[in-house]
Amino acid sequence: MHDPARPAPWTASWPEAPRGTDKAGLYHELARELAALLAEEPDATANAANAAAAIYHALPDLNWAGFYFLRGGELVLGPFQGRPACVRIAMGKGVCGTAAQRRESILVPDVGEFPGHIACDSASRSELVVPLLDGDRVLGVLDLDSPSLARFDATDQAGCETLAAIVVRHLR
Ligand code: SME
Repeated sequence: MHDPARPAPWTASWPEAPRGTDKAGLYHELARELAALLAEEPDATANAANAAAAIYHALPDLNWAGFYFLRGGELVLGPFQGRPACVRIAMGKGVCGTAAQRRESILVPDVGEFPGHIACDSASRSELVVPLLDGDRVLGVLDLDSPSLARFDATDQAGCETLAAIVVRHLR
């Protein structure tokens, strides 16, 4: 579990905390804390819920963070933080369905420029979607939305791919 001698990365917003840590460092710390947070719990729903909350509170400038899971050939809303969202997304539709179908992350600097973007929260301006991959199998996606244009970069993508891999190990 969390080491009480160190502040967890979700106790305050980057770049204020952890002090002196850059963005890659924040993801490194968050990955460590997330792995510890999920380590002892076998329940997939509990782990996805805690992962969504940890990510939402650790990363700055988000208005939505959470999961969609592949159920019967479509993506169905899972645990998240933020405003209520669209419940079902077909494979190949929106940013989430496209990332799931391609089995690759999609960075969208301006959601207005992404054909077929599904607007769940009108505040969202940019988005990062990372597939949850178990080998070749897509289990769903991790979706992050920001009210700022171009909020996400390659460091966020690499960091979130690491976080997604940790979550996948705790969904079984
Ligand atoms: N914008 C997403 C839909 C999910 S919400 O952002 C939470 C999409 O285009 O797939």
